[in-house]
Amino acid sequence: MIIVRISRRKNPPGPPGLPFVGNLFQFDKANPHIYLWRLSQKYGPLVYLKHGSTPILVVSSTKMARQILKTYDLSFCTRPSVVGQQKLAYDGIDMAFSPYNHHWIQMRKICVLHLLSPKQVSSFRSVREDEVRRVIDKITISRSCNLSDIAMSLASNLICRVAFGRRYDDDEYDKLRFDRLIMEAQALMVSFYFSDHFPVFGNWVDKVSGLLDRLQKNCKELDVFYQQIIDEHLNPSRPKPDRQDIIDLMFELLKHQSSSSSSLHITMDHIKALLMNLFVAGTDTVAAAVVLTMTALMLNPTIMNKAQTEIKQLIGNKGTVDEDDIKKLPYLKAVVLESLRLYPPAPLIFRTQISNQHCTIDGYKIEPGTSVFINGWAMARDPETWKDPDEFRPERFTNSSWDGGVFEMIPFGGGRRGCPGMGMGLISTELALANLLYSFDWALPSDGDNDGVDTEALPGLTMHKKNPLVLVATPTGCI
Ligand code: HEM
Repeated sequence: MIIVRISRRKNPPGPPGLPFVGNLFQFDKANPHIYLWRLSQKYGPLVYLKHGSTPILVVSSTKMARQILKTYDLSFCTRPSVVGQQKLAYDGIDMAFSPYNHHWIQMRKICVLHLLSPKQVSSFRSVREDEVRRVIDKITISRSCNLSDIAMSLASNLICRVAFGRRYDDDEYDKLRFDRLIMEAQALMVSFYFSDHFPVFGNWVDKVSGLLDRLQKNCKELDVFYQQIIDEHLNPSRPKPDRQDIIDLMFELLKHQSSSSSSLHITMDHIKALLMNLFVAGTDTVAAAVVLTMTALMLNPTIMNKAQTEIKQLIGNKGTVDEDDIKKLPYLKAVVLESLRLYPPAPLIFRTQISNQHCTIDGYKIEPGTSVFINGWAMARDPETWKDPDEFRPERFTNSSWDGGVFEMIPFGGGRRGCPGMGMGLISTELALANLLYSFDWALPSDGDNDGVDTEALPGLTMHKKNPLVLVATPTGCI
């Protein structure tokens, strides 16, 4: 039950800030989720910060997250409008960074009904099985492997084949170009733009610092990259593909839009903005989920053993785990959920209160336009919700029917803006892990260089390990 307190205090508690800049320079950009979790331990589940002129509400408990994502979902279903993300999203005509408006509703409908529907996700089953098989073959040859790199190229290949029907690492030049462009775009999305926090000064500081030029250059290069893929699809001599990819599906919608009742007029820029969303939202997250789960299993060998035993008992000497098998592996599924709880790949969820909406949370009136950071990392460590929250214990989920719709944990967010790629993300992660565990026994390299397995993260929207996960794989003899 939510306690409604009539409070005289205007804002929730929080650390004192400096005049003009507020708490901006106290913010730990390297590990924001951990910094904000510590603040929540001191000030409680609602913390108030100010970054320049932007008020920020930090949410760190299930109870408060439910208020934002369910009770007041409509009030908080827009995204903060920040320079880097808006520019890379063709001025917000994408889905992930678009403000909540009629355009977003139409884009979301297209995505949920046509591009990422359960039927569409299962139509890409053979792509996932093929890509995972290639990974297993590669590891069988190399044995000692950087799982962080392997998971990233697996996830990139999956998204590239789903989005535009081509593997991204078939051509070394294309692979390097794609990696460089996407990495630069991700860095620019989370860079500090002075104009985001001090809009009254215009954008001259970002111009002088060279950040806007860098952003402009990245947007232009990405645009050329997207256009090239689109042109390949428009080429009349292109061989007929086995299955439609996302660009084919978007072209189909584009062809029929004049006869449909939808008032969204799809243009090439919409297609490009959506491609950016799929690359950014669907690649890193899946790669991070695979690596963080393997990290958790290396730290908990008994659990790894139990998961391997379950898989081997079901699969025997069949040689590979396919997607039908995954449904019969409840312990593996529980391992993935526990990993998503304790190490959410996207630990912070960013929302903004719509400017004409007013609401009161836990007795505090929230100003319209307040940015909200929901901290999934902190929620996973809340002892009011989880018994022994710091322990990696998949048994919490062995009898669970968790489907993303409850707010104890929110690895895929929730409400109107919850992740539309959850189905694809989960099955890709489960399939990759099942095959890694079935095919190999895993150990740390014994070259004296290794300091064990850690869970330190790099800065960014997605939680990537700071130190890559390098392991030695010994074939189990099942393949
Ligand atoms: C394990 C994998 C994944 C995780 C952990 C994850 C997590 C998330 C989270 C936390 C959000 C924000 C939700 C919110 O604000 O409530 C999100 C949004 C989104 N995700 Fe995912 N995601 C994953 C996989 C994918 C995949 C595979 C795709 C597409 C191919 C995808 C596409 C998107 C898009 C387009 C949005 C923006 C939705 C909107 O703003 O309306 N995600 N995801």
